[in-house]
Amino acid sequence: MDQQVTIYQAETRKAKPDYNELSFGKHFTDHMFVMDYSTEKGWYDPRITPYEPLLMDPSSMVFHYGQSVFEGLKAYHSGDDVLLFRPEKNFERLNKSNERMNIPAVDVDFMVDALKQLVDIDHDWIPTKDGQSLYIRPFIISTEAGLSVRPASQYKLMIIMTPVGAYYSNSDHMSPVKIYVEDEFVRSVKGGVGFTKTSGNYAASLKAQTKAAELGYDQVLWLDALEKKYVEEVGSMNIFFKIDGEIVTPALNGSILSGITRNSVIELLRYWGYTVNERRISIEEVYNAQKDGTLEEVFGTGTAAVISPVGTLKWKEEELVINNNETGDVSLDLYETISGIQTGKKDDVLGWTIPLGVKQT
Ligand code: COI
Repeated sequence: MDQQVTIYQAETRKAKPDYNELSFGKHFTDHMFVMDYSTEKGWYDPRITPYEPLLMDPSSMVFHYGQSVFEGLKAYHSGDDVLLFRPEKNFERLNKSNERMNIPAVDVDFMVDALKQLVDIDHDWIPTKDGQSLYIRPFIISTEAGLSVRPASQYKLMIIMTPVGAYYSNSDHMSPVKIYVEDEFVRSVKGGVGFTKTSGNYAASLKAQTKAAELGYDQVLWLDALEKKYVEEVGSMNIFFKIDGEIVTPALNGSILSGITRNSVIELLRYWGYTVNERRISIEEVYNAQKDGTLEEVFGTGTAAVISPVGTLKWKEEELVINNNETGDVSLDLYETISGIQTGKKDDVLGWTIPLGVKQT
């Protein structure tokens, strides 16, 4: 895409939140990226503007028919520079979501470049403590006004950014979380939109999430929609099991999100020499492994969650306590290596990070 990003600097800068008390996605930086689409012009008018509310027609199609996709990635403080972690993967995945949701594709290289400019402008918002980062949320919504059900002819792509700490409010990064295996509601079915990051997937998960929270669990583990037998993913992360030395994660079957942290974990584990199998795994297999003592570790992976050890799995009447509710060695090694690479403290052996060339003040 042969266009320049126009930059409109904010006249005043906001006060930063208390970085000792960072919750997830509550405070937003001074600027945002915006770009519009129309069928006549394609994507046009890319700009960085002050962070501000939108003025939208109440009949904008996104409010009614939900054409909306998003991404999540992070920028990390690394000594005297800033690192982005595999940002091209996020825009490639955005295009997969776009394709399924009938939204026009974006130019991946252009978006990575625009993102670098946005992060550069607000780089003083990147928190510096261990486990903290700047969470970046690109998203696209249909903006055409009108109520007929069809793909919109106008869209808006935006990127907003927020300094974050640990995703789970009741834990630091490596305290094991409690997961409720959902066997009433389902998230997605093959042929549907489960592999995309479309807002409706998250809306549809909220009822089960509320039920799990009321019962004292952090997140829901979804099973396949047809038989409610095979493990799929957790609400905000993919899931891995270590059973008798083998590391297993559910295969991407069309209803599971293709996590970028999931992919990074698989690559890193294989690089370390572990056997990692992407295959179907039933909740019964997990239960049996726990009973016969071969379930060594369970952990989730995600941009927001990073590596999140699972300490408890509640399935029907059974409450499985995994690895004595302690963080396992593989989870810990993965967290330390991945967050070390992301913050420039460890060798980027697999070539994942992109330095911005920013001088931190
Ligand atoms: C992420 O990990 O970036 C996600 O999008 C998960 C969640 C916060 C919706």
